[in-house]
Amino acid sequence: MSASPLTGKRIVLGVTGGIAAYKAIELSRRLVDAGAHVVPIMTDAAQHFVGATTLGALASEPVQTELWNNPTTPIPHTKVGQGADLIIVAPATAKSIAAYRMGYSHDLLQNTLIATRAPVIVCPAMHTEMWEHPSVVDNIATLRKRGVHIVEPESGRLAGGDMGAGRLADPATILGAAERILGPADLTGVRVVVSAGGTREPIDAVRVIANRSSGKQGYAVAAEAAARGAQVTLVSTVGLPTPAGVQVIAVETAAEMQEAMERAAIDHDVIVMAAAVADFRPAHAASGKIKKRDGVPEIVLQPTPDILAGLGANKRDDHVLVGFAAETANLVDNAQGKLERKRLDLIVANDVSAPGVGFAHDTNAVTLLRPGAKPVEIDLATKRDVARAVIDAVVDIRNAR
Ligand code: PMT
Repeated sequence: MSASPLTGKRIVLGVTGGIAAYKAIELSRRLVDAGAHVVPIMTDAAQHFVGATTLGALASEPVQTELWNNPTTPIPHTKVGQGADLIIVAPATAKSIAAYRMGYSHDLLQNTLIATRAPVIVCPAMHTEMWEHPSVVDNIATLRKRGVHIVEPESGRLAGGDMGAGRLADPATILGAAERILGPADLTGVRVVVSAGGTREPIDAVRVIANRSSGKQGYAVAAEAAARGAQVTLVSTVGLPTPAGVQVIAVETAAEMQEAMERAAIDHDVIVMAAAVADFRPAHAASGKIKKRDGVPEIVLQPTPDILAGLGANKRDDHVLVGFAAETANLVDNAQGKLERKRLDLIVANDVSAPGVGFAHDTNAVTLLRPGAKPVEIDLATKRDVARAVIDAVVDIRNAR
């Protein structure tokens, strides 16, 4: 299994003075968890919003704030930027964006930004009026032209209760952008579609037959593929935060998922079915609510279509088709049967009865099976690590063709 592209990378995290500064602490923690060495810098204004002690505790070293009398180095204005593999400014205020555009190097962060050849990600956060002001629009456009990566703010609730565009992007989205920049880019130009979550089959207007899938494993596969340069479509039944660079198609039932996946198969190169699709659905869903006073209803079930088997039957030679197998016994034998019957290039088998494995956990343990190859076991690891192993195998299959 390859390591996260952030492992061992020196990432400068510049925090400027906005209410979203608190989210930089979570971002720092996630970067450190992914193996990066985080060098935190805070502007004076940022320290009005969060404490340097808090950020420093969740970064890899104490926060630097001073251009002068900096205890870490006598020449902080060049040292920090020169040593960086990547600089992230989150949140970036309108003032810090304007200063960066002009090269106005009045503090440690702005000096660092112009004394580096490392890629830079700017994550703006401000009120909607400010974000849409022509000066900010112009500054952002100029930075983009210079090759600065902009992770655009989201729409939602802003400080003071206002609603609109300007909320700092989710830390997971910023992390995804960093992975995309520092990653191997071995799926650049490749179109990948992933299904995630459990389908819900209506019984009546309020009740469904569902399963325990949280969508975490499918989202991790989508995020990993996007981080490696793929154009990713995620056909999802759940509302987890959208990974950076991924387009989501929301579905609910097996029939809706089938339609979305079959349509996507036309112009996608890699198809991954990580979703837990219901095998049975009520033959007739009541249009209203079935009333309790009418007694216990008899629900007649009928089989759903096997989406993956259909995709396998119509597979193009250049498709890479990946299935998952959720088993509670005879893991490898059962998964091998599915690999062959559904004409897959890879199946990811998980024993969902094992502790920490499968449905809803943050971790998984899987066996990767490919036609004619020895099974590869991935011991209990984060779902993102498992996703990395799955995408490694997909890249390998493509390279071998
Ligand atoms: O979502 P999480 O909480 O993170 O949990 C992850 C997971 C356990 C859901 C995931 O790791 C997983 O195992 N996904 C497949 C679950 C499943 O439905 O397995 P299965 O063995 O029943 O199906 C085999 C394959 O056929 C799967 O790729 C499935 O998507 C597909 N299938 C199944 C039935 C059906 N009607 N149509 C299908 O396409």
